[in-house]
Amino acid sequence: MTQERINAELSQILNIRYPIIIAPMFLVSNTKMIIAGIKAGATGAIPAMNYRTTEELRTAIQEVKSAVDGPFGINLIVNKSNFTYKEQLAIICEEKVDYIITSLGSPGETIKEAHKAGIKVFCDVTNLKYAKKVESLGADAIIAVNKEAGGHAGNISIKDLVPELKKNCSIPVISAGGVGNGYELKEALELGADGCSVGSLFIATEEADVSEEYKQACVDYGENDIVMTSKLSGTPCTVIKTPYVEKIGTKQNWLERLLNKNRKLKKWFKAFTFMRGMKSLQKAAFSATYKTLWCAGPSIENVKSIRPIKDIIDQLVREYHEEK
Ligand SMILES: Cc1cc2nc3c(=O)[nH]c(=O)nc-3n(C[C@H](O)[C@H](O)[C@H](O)COP(=O)(O)O)c2cc1C
Repeated sequence: MTQERINAELSQILNIRYPIIIAPMFLVSNTKMIIAGIKAGATGAIPAMNYRTTEELRTAIQEVKSAVDGPFGINLIVNKSNFTYKEQLAIICEEKVDYIITSLGSPGETIKEAHKAGIKVFCDVTNLKYAKKVESLGADAIIAVNKEAGGHAGNISIKDLVPELKKNCSIPVISAGGVGNGYELKEALELGADGCSVGSLFIATEEADVSEEYKQACVDYGENDIVMTSKLSGTPCTVIKTPYVEKIGTKQNWLERLLNKNRKLKKWFKAFTFMRGMKSLQKAAFSATYKTLWCAGPSIENVKSIRPIKDIIDQLVREYHEEK
């Protein structure tokens, strides 16, 4: 049975039944998840970084387009750490996805090029100052990443961030972080959010290609098991506190901190840390390994089993419409 629509700005902008983005997740997002999300009435985005080559990115975009009619996006890292930024942007513009989600760095050029191709741009921000900046650059919406989010979380709570951005910005505000059920989705929209970007809840899904161990960890662990680590990319990131994470610790050691500060070496050391961190995450995400290093946010508290995407979206919508 199809449930009642959820009317919010994001549903209007993208012409979808429910204002939910299956958030872009490094290593986790794939075309199957996006197709299932669209079929269930939502939308979804994939990080361009999930594809080794730009041709693989092109094939993925074409695959989603030939499977479903609904809107979807690509997440683009727009700072210097992304060596293939220009090629990725060119392919996205050629293939014409519905929206780009920018993270890290200044999105000015991306917005200009995307708009020429008729593509909307939603920009990740964690505070008002940056929100005003992307608004002045012409962003179509803000993705307000709060401190409850998985991945590179912000440091302002959803209750403070969404109303502040709504009050001071005139473009739509999509809230990212801390939505693990339909009641929390409703709370976010009641705070003024025009839609929600939901990540962690969708890791333990049948459509995700990550290892069963990673999915099961999202079932077995809860919000109190999430810690921030700066060991992975240099930028703090949420991970599940497995025995392995406890063993290696979550802070950079004195040598790493020293190299991070050295004027001549820091650029190279940061790039090295990033590559090393991403490799470790990749190994842990796809194979059974004793180095259990899994990225997830506190919303995994709500994950009780590995399910199809449609079940999760149906539940979010059912709970949203329920009288509490
Ligand atoms: C495993 C994982 C990987 C992520 N990778 C990315 C990424 O590549 N790019 C990005 O912009 N955000 C990334 N995020 C953040 C999500 O897009 C989204 O903001 C976040 O998941 C929302 O919080 P939630 O997990 O509580 O739903 C990631 C989050 C998780 C949990």
